[in-house]
Amino acid sequence: MKRVLVHTFGCQMNAHDSRRIEEALSADGYEPTDLAEHADLIVLNTCSVREKAEHKLVSALGKLRPLKSDRPELRIVVAGCMASEHGPKLLDRLDLVDVMVGPDNIPELAGLVRKAQAGGRYAATALDEEPRFLTAEPRAQHPITGRPETSAYVTVMKGCDERCSYCIVPHTRGAEKYRPAHDIVREIASLVSGGVREITLLGQTVNSWHEPTRVTGADDEESQFPELLRRIAAEVPGLARLRYTSPHPRHLTLALIAAHAELPMLPAHVHMPVQSGSDRVLKRMIRRYRRDEYIERTNALKAGRPGLTLATDIIVGFPGETEDDFQQTLSLVDAVQFITVFGFKYSPRPHTPALKLEDDVPETVKSERLERLFTAVDVHQRRHLDALIGARAHVLFEGPSKSGAGKFQGRSERHEIVHVDAPDGVDLTGALLPVEITQANKRSLAGRLLDLPTAQQPVKRPMRLPVVTV
Ligand code: SAH
Ligand code: SF4
Ligand code: F3S
Repeated sequence: MKRVLVHTFGCQMNAHDSRRIEEALSADGYEPTDLAEHADLIVLNTCSVREKAEHKLVSALGKLRPLKSDRPELRIVVAGCMASEHGPKLLDRLDLVDVMVGPDNIPELAGLVRKAQAGGRYAATALDEEPRFLTAEPRAQHPITGRPETSAYVTVMKGCDERCSYCIVPHTRGAEKYRPAHDIVREIASLVSGGVREITLLGQTVNSWHEPTRVTGADDEESQFPELLRRIAAEVPGLARLRYTSPHPRHLTLALIAAHAELPMLPAHVHMPVQSGSDRVLKRMIRRYRRDEYIERTNALKAGRPGLTLATDIIVGFPGETEDDFQQTLSLVDAVQFITVFGFKYSPRPHTPALKLEDDVPETVKSERLERLFTAVDVHQRRHLDALIGARAHVLFEGPSKSGAGKFQGRSERHEIVHVDAPDGVDLTGALLPVEITQANKRSLAGRLLDLPTAQQPVKRPMRLPVVTV
């Protein structure tokens, strides 16, 4: 058996692609491993979103150099957004790399690796004209951990038409392409019948989804994403949780807000990237909404689903961001009461409109603003977690806690991590159970099981090899 190590550097779409890469290679007899020393093939699935992400590739290759000189038959692949960003010329700069594939070229990977084994270096990095959505067959267990998987990603759209002025993703992933609802529903139904309990719908602007057949004229035409959610809930009632990422606030419509109020399958937690709390900065970012619109819509979302929490992405130090602009971001954090933030220092990227603006906020100021941002969000997170002591949560268990024997961890309906003690010999993986919260830790909760699974989980299923259909 040959072994492949796939390392994910980027976002959820990148992680999803890593799974598709493993599947594409399994047809050629590759089994996943997490040890570089055991691998015959190493795939580095890269990200271009910030300069730091690109540096990670260079340092990973540095670590692999001794391995490759010991075992020249080892083949190294660069996949993902850096392959798309730089194209085949990246091979000239990275002598260790044998094959490059862009995010749309995963179906070509196995063939290119075969050719590279016979010698030579190959690249396929062009984006698809006609989108190919790769469908996974459910797998009974994770090939490395050997445990059943409770969660899976399903792609509903690819690419991005937004052109936020700082962002390279429209360049690396191309124009928006939508997947038909019947295809999405079929994949979800198949995953759920294979034991998956939670699905996360994926897309760069996931809530802009509409049927690919819809003839669309206006750019501001309302998305059909709420209909998609309703259809999944109706046609796959066995699904316990339906999440999605990343939505754009522009498509947080009244219909989507209503779906959150009506569909219990949707969690009481939404990740809604805002990027800045200053209208002046939002405009320069070309985000196409105002701060008051964001607040109004997220308030409506919370009103429709009591207890709903929000997480967000924020960029600090965008060109021209003043202390006053940043204060407005902090005041937005307080107005919306985000309980989690993914905060980033602005990083100038090639192929983006913001390159024309001077990167004028000093690095020390960016760092200091990022710290202040995290401190502001921590206050809300602390208050939120402490307030949950004594409350009841519904926890979808993912597997044993890393912290200790007999403990299992899962996610509440609001996505908080919850740890519990399981009775001897009971595996809670995949069970959705009521828990009384007894303790709030720094970033997670601990609780007491209020019920036990009716049937012993996990259900052992025969191992089927994943099949990739194009
Ligand atoms: N499509 C998603 C996320 C894309 S990238 C969305 O729109 O939400 C993930 C996050 O990286 C973005 O939300 C943004 O906060 C951050 N990001 C993107 N480009 C960046 C840049 N040039 N510098 C710093 N952060 C950036
Ligand atoms: Fe980038 Fe904006 Fe598209 Fe998100 S919506 S991927 S931030 S251009
Ligand atoms: Fe990175 Fe590409 Fe995702 S640039 S954030 S891996 S879409």
